Amino acid sequence: MSTVQCQGPLCAPGAAGGGAGDAPVQGRADGGPRSAHRAVLSVEVVRLAEACVAALSRPLHVVDCTVGAGGHARAVLAALPAGSRLLGLDLDPAALELAEQTLSDLPADRACRLVRANFRDLAEVARREAMVPADFVLFDTGVSSMQLDQPERGFSFRQDGPLDMRYGPDVVRTAADLLDSLSERALADVLYRFGEERAARRIARRIVTGRPWSGTQALAEAIAETLGRPRIGRVHPATRSFQAIRSVVNEEMASLQRGLAGAASILGAGGLLVVIAFESLSDRLVKNFVRSTSRHCICPVGTPECRCRFEPVFEPRGWDLVRPAAAEVARNPRSRSARLRAARRTAAPWRAEAVEWGIGAGVGNGRGGFGR
Ligand SMILES: C[S@@+](CC[C@H](N)C(=O)[O-])C[C@H]1O[C@@H](n2cnc3c(N)ncnc32)[C@H](O)[C@@H]1O
Repeated sequence: MSTVQCQGPLCAPGAAGGGAGDAPVQGRADGGPRSAHRAVLSVEVVRLAEACVAALSRPLHVVDCTVGAGGHARAVLAALPAGSRLLGLDLDPAALELAEQTLSDLPADRACRLVRANFRDLAEVARREAMVPADFVLFDTGVSSMQLDQPERGFSFRQDGPLDMRYGPDVVRTAADLLDSLSERALADVLYRFGEERAARRIARRIVTGRPWSGTQALAEAIAETLGRPRIGRVHPATRSFQAIRSVVNEEMASLQRGLAGAASILGAGGLLVVIAFESLSDRLVKNFVRSTSRHCICPVGTPECRCRFEPVFEPRGWDLVRPAAAEVARNPRSRSARLRAARRTAAPWRAEAVEWGIGAGVGNGRGGFGR
């Protein structure tokens, strides 16, 4: 884990590029992140942060669990009152470098700190960085435009690259490791559970017979051939398989489940949890998590008498699904599948064992892993 402190003299709220817009954050031309990343639903995220300030009437402690290029972080911090602080996490050192640049000209009266960490460790990192209680916790899940547009990261089937797909060097297994080591059955399981791919068995068989795999394009073409399906508009036939492999390489579901529990444990009363998800599986996990933590009882269905004595830790009120407006989708087509959900923390204590009781479960095997 590494940390970066950024603080600077410029950028009054609303200064060019520092407001609530979704202006792209440019990558570098020196071999670092190359494409521009537009922070999705940025206006809506800033509005929620402003609502949080209005409710709490003080500067905020913000944790951006997926700081990426720093687009959301900058827009939010620029809109907050002096004295506000932001902790930004990301697994990707290249993203943190870019975020440092994006956030370098913030006014000196608001601080931010960037830490290379997995958001599944959110609670520990936030405590260590003195950000508890937090007031605003944001997750913008998945892969960034910079990662997608760098063929050497192996996320894309548009350009050939190694089958890597790791968000950062701390992720131990690459996509190639996974494809070359899993049994046909386990591969089918991965594709079905984490990509909702109906042709999972056929694709798994093709993967096993084509080993070893070296490049993203060979894999994407083999999947397209197996399905005998042409590209439909912008959607490549390998989209679901790539999503599944990326998800399992980075243990996305398990990390998100732990990250959400971490958020529940660090948010103070009246604080906001805000999550942007691009895939239905992650969105469902978020929806289930907040639904179940908003209930008065989380005992298994059919339990004759409540034994959990659970108190709701989130308020279902204000828990509305937000989708990007047509204008944002026109400006940034990658935003089209984004879904934002937000929930307000109550004053009830968080009970860590709630996750063991099945909070937010219902995806894959609940551990975000796979059988061999
Ligand atoms: C969609 S991008 C975020 C973009 C960012 N909101 C912005 O405005 O630039 C998602 C980021 O989350 C990071 N990420 C994915 N899983 C993570 C995890 N478990 N822990 C920390 N960072 C993660 C990725 O490396 C990527 O940079």
